[in-house]
Amino acid sequence: MKKEVNSPSPVKTEEIGEKFAGAILKARAWRRAKVISLEGELGSGKTTFLKGVAKGLGIKEMIKSPTFVIMKKYKIGTGRRQQATRYFYHIDCYRIERPKEILGLGWEEMLERPQNIIAVEWGEKIRKILPRDYLKIVFKFINKNTRKLSFKIHG
Ligand SMILES: Nc1ncnc2c1ncn2[C@@H]1O[C@H](COP(=O)(O)OP(=O)(O)OP(=O)(O)O)[C@@H](O)[C@H]1O
Ligand SMILES: [Mg+2]
Repeated sequence: MKKEVNSPSPVKTEEIGEKFAGAILKARAWRRAKVISLEGELGSGKTTFLKGVAKGLGIKEMIKSPTFVIMKKYKIGTGRRQQATRYFYHIDCYRIERPKEILGLGWEEMLERPQNIIAVEWGEKIRKILPRDYLKIVFKFINKNTRKLSFKIHG
């Protein structure tokens, strides 16, 4: 996947998310959960992207912004019964004031399971508690229908 991509529509942003999910599922096993921090101003497309990610992970439920609940957990449909159950966590830090609020949701336990995929909107607000090797996607508002997505790997 390219490091930077312009998306000309919400549908395209979802498609990019779906592709991204496919790449994550194919990646070799890792020792801890995979954490993706989605950063960028309001309405820049973070949730739209995650709708595509969920689709790519085989999640049938509708992904909405979890703004009022902070976190939502979904079972990933890998289609392989012998595999350990994998979960996708969607966390939205927009309304939180301290990283501690996320620790209180069982953050450490979530990170311990290597099968977990954790997407954090406004992840910059909990930078202190993100694992060293988190993936970062920065969303930039270019114009009404165009967003720029930049992918970075930390660590
Ligand atoms: N290329 C694009 N990619 C994504 N969204 C787009 C694009 N063009 C227009 N939009 C619109 O921008 C809005 C993006 O909203 P979305 O909820 O995904 O943003 P967000 O970054 O999650 O915002 P918030 O910070 O409030 O959670 C939607 O209304 C969507 O239709
Ligand atoms: Mg959102």
